[in-house]
Amino acid sequence: MGLLTDKTIVIFGVANKRSIAWGIAKVAAREGAQLVLGYQNERMGKALNKLIPDLPSPPIIAECDVTNDDLVAAFFETVKKECDGVDGLVHSIATAKREELGGRFRDTSWEGYALSQQVSAYSLISLARGAVPLMTGREASIVCMTYYGAERVVNGYNVMGVAKAALEANTRYLADDLGPEGIRVNAISAGPIKTVSAMGVSGFKSILGTVVERAPLRRNVTQEDVGNTALFLMSDLGRAVTGQTIYVDSGYSILGA
Ligand SMILES: NC(=O)c1ccc[n+]([C@@H]2O[C@H](COP(=O)([O-])OP(=O)(O)OC[C@H]3O[C@@H](n4cnc5c(N)ncnc54)[C@H](O)[C@@H]3O)[C@@H](O)[C@H]2O)c1
Repeated sequence: MGLLTDKTIVIFGVANKRSIAWGIAKVAAREGAQLVLGYQNERMGKALNKLIPDLPSPPIIAECDVTNDDLVAAFFETVKKECDGVDGLVHSIATAKREELGGRFRDTSWEGYALSQQVSAYSLISLARGAVPLMTGREASIVCMTYYGAERVVNGYNVMGVAKAALEANTRYLADDLGPEGIRVNAISAGPIKTVSAMGVSGFKSILGTVVERAPLRRNVTQEDVGNTALFLMSDLGRAVTGQTIYVDSGYSILGA
């Protein structure tokens, strides 16, 4: 029996096999979860369909662009029809205008700022709102993905650092709001992993190198490392943990000068 046997886990953010969400999906499937995978658009749906045969059992998949609250509501209507309820929600999505992931922070546009907040931070609230009615009586768990650039200045991370700071605050406020209903909300602060989104951050390769050089464990983290921590948070092992940001970063975040 796996740690997630009989649990239904909804995961957002699989774009391809490098996505952190795909690492989490594989670990959750390995541990017996029934998966529901939300994808952004038709193109992502096609990519997802190619990955699905690698899972031990077929997931439910449904389209959902989180910038549209009606689509979020429709997504959870589909989940309601297909599943008895939801035990876990993984938010592994973010976006920013490429030109704002680098250059001078002062040049951040309102449009770019608003977009990164909407997709990368606000959507945790809207997806939670959609999932909560399906989580009643299930000691459910919500997990999102953040990065050290939320709390310290990381060159090039710019507008995304501000969105991640909001996401971490959303995690704490949601944890307090949903705790009385037995629902936990936590963030995983992952070290850098080479994904499509990460490659959009200027200087990303040097960030990977710095971790190998300086982090206590002297290595970069993998999708599976993150997936295993998400597993802990979604399983009963993590049932007293809420409102936290947990670092999966080879210890890089403990370093000073
Ligand atoms: N890769 C890293 O180094 C790293 C480190 C720490 C945290 N993170 C975070 O992990 C999460 C996953 O990113 P990743 O690195 O796996 O990159 P990725 O590009 O593989 O995944 C990003 C996902 O966001 C989805 N998305 C973007 N806009 C959306 C929208 N409007 N509606 C629905 N989905 C949308 C994309 O479809 C994609 O699946 C992000 O929150 C990212 O900030 C990444």
